[in-house]
Parts: sequence; C-alpha cells; structure tokens
Amino acid sequence: MRRAWQAGMIALARSPRAKRWIQSGRATSGLASRYVAGPDAEAGVALAAALLARGIRSSLFYLGEYVDSPVLVAENVAAKREVADLLGRAGIEIHVSVDPTQIGHSLDPALGRRNALAIAGAIADAPGDGQRLMMIDMEDRSFVDATIALHDELRGDGLPIGITLQAYLRRTEADLAARIRQGATVRLVKGAFAAGADAAFTTQAEIKANHRRLIGLMLSRAARDAGFRPVIATHDDRLQDHAIAQAEAAGWGKDEYEFEMLYGVRGALAEQRAREGHRMRLYLPFGRDWWPYAVRRIGENPRNAWLLARSLAGG
Ligand code: FDA
Repeated sequence: MRRAWQAGMIALARSPRAKRWIQSGRATSGLASRYVAGPDAEAGVALAAALLARGIRSSLFYLGEYVDSPVLVAENVAAKREVADLLGRAGIEIHVSVDPTQIGHSLDPALGRRNALAIAGAIADAPGDGQRLMMIDMEDRSFVDATIALHDELRGDGLPIGITLQAYLRRTEADLAARIRQGATVRLVKGAFAAGADAAFTTQAEIKANHRRLIGLMLSRAARDAGFRPVIATHDDRLQDHAIAQAEAAGWGKDEYEFEMLYGVRGALAEQRAREGHRMRLYLPFGRDWWPYAVRRIGENPRNAWLLARSLAGG
C-alpha cells in the first residue's frame, strides 16, 4: 500500500501537465512553503540565517533535477554559485547540495564535470572564512559509478567536497569503506529509489538493517582515526539514537559528526537534536521548480495526503 502510494506520487511529480498547472500559481503554494525556503537564493539565505539563530545549520539546494536543456543547466550552475557567494557574504557557513543531473551530467558527462569543478571552485573561493562544502547528492543507480568518480576526482584536487551514499544498495558497504579510508565526508541516506534484488535490498526491514550496520561502520573507531566525517541523514529517531550510542561508544565528540534532515519534515525532532547539542543540518531547497520535490516528500508519508489535497483544492 505504502509502495503504491509512493509510486503514484512519483508519477505525479513527473507529470509535466500537473507541474505546469501547479507552478502557474493557480493552486496554493502552501505545499511549497512547507518544504521550500522560497523562490530565490535570497529567500534561501534568509531562512538559513533564521535557522542558524536557532542552532540549526543548512545545506542550500537549488531545485531542478534530471535537467535536459543546456539553458536550464547554465541557470542551475549560476544559482548554485550565487547562493555560495550570498552565504559567504552573510557570514554563514557555505554548504551547497548538488545533483549531478541538474548540472549537465546526463546531457554530457564532460559538461557535468566542468560544472561541478566550477561550483566547487566558487564555494572554495567564496567570501568569508567559515567552513564550506559542496555535497553531491546521489541519484538513481545508473549514476552511482560516475558520481563516485566525480567525487574522488574533485577531492583529489583538494576541493571541499562530500558525497551521498544510499543504504538500499548492496554495493554501498564497499563504496563507504573506501571513502572511510580516504577520510572523506559521506552523507548516508536510505535512498529514494528502488532496484532489483541483485543490486539492492528490497524490503524496508532489510534496508533498515543495512542502514543500521552502515551507521556502525561510519561511527567506528577506525573511521574516526581515518579523519572520516560522518553525516547521518535520516528522519528515523531510532536510527539517530543508534548513531548517538555508537558515537559515544567509539569516542566521537558531538562536533565530529552531524545529523541532517529535510526542511519541513519532523521539525520538532531537528529542534530536539540541536537542543541536545548535536550538529543538526537541514537540507534547504529554494527555487521555482518546487512541485516534483514537494510531491516526493508527500509520497514518503501518506499521512501528508491532506497537504496535497488542500493544495489542489486551492485552499
Ligand atoms: P523513513 O522513511 O523510515 O522515515 C522515518 C520517519 O520519518 C518515519 O516516522 C516517517 O513517517 C517520517 N518521515 C519520513 N519522510 C517524511 C515526510 N516526507 N513527511 C513526514 N514524515 C516523514 N535520497 C537519495 O536517494 N539521494 C540523495 O541524495 C538524498 N539526499 C538526502 C539528503 C537528506 C539530508 C535527507 C534527509 C534525505 C535524502 N534523501 C536522498 C532521501 C532519503 O533517501 C529517504 O528517501 C528519506 O530520507 C526518507 O528516509 P528516512 O531515513 O528518513 O526514513
């Protein structure tokens, strides 16, 4: 039932007609404001500043994925660079998330690579002297090898880079072990995609068990000794509790690892973790192309159906 709901929401997210109608403004933008900071980089930075005042960090994400037009790719790259610059000028830590397909990777891998270098370079050179990172999101299985290669290359060039790995994939344990040895920064997520049993864990129980195991590897003594930076990205409070227990047992300080959640999802839990003294970051999207992103969030939790219904009714 839950899978069918999620599949339906993914189809709705990909429907160009639904997207045109919704984003035209005829339906309410209540759904957008639940999950998205606003239409532009200024709105993203303003919300990041407000969150920081409450002890919560942000990773800014300009919306737009699986882009198939060079014009949109250029727009996406410009938006990522602009937000890095604005964060630096505002004295806020520069943390920007990037999907390879939104910067041209699926059009032409060489273009995607050039754009990734340009954005990471802009982040490295942005004003301010605070911490900075370009976090690469992980898309469907067909992009995993290329995304990891991109990460390793940029890291080899000394650029401030991190990568997202997905617990649903069987290969992730080996990918993670190699990134731990590098002393890299890895954001571990469950994975928003599905694949066959040859490549992936297919039941929620299996995925969760693997997620738990991988969190154990990320927060091991060996990982700490290697200078690895773990990012535990889940809204599952029990997995977060597991990470905290693991971190305490292996001697990690609270400032040596972080939690990350999506803006608009379980906000009270994010506030609680920040109050407990944990590094808490929210993935904070901005931009006009909010519909596919917001509908996927609804797909992750059928209890949010009322939000969608209210939007479509224009209320
Ligand atoms: P799970 O889905 O089990 O949820 C745990 C709890 O949170 C449940 O109680 C659930 O009801 C609640 N919850 C979850 N989603 C909710 C929602 N939308 N609204 C209300 N409650 C909700 N994926 C990917 O493939 N590539 C990527 O690059 C990223 N990047 C990324 C960054 C960050 C910071 C996060 C937090 C997540 C991602 N994801 C991702 C998405 C990720 O793979 C996954 O789909 C979601 O995080 C949901 O899985 P959870 O681990 O949160 O657990």
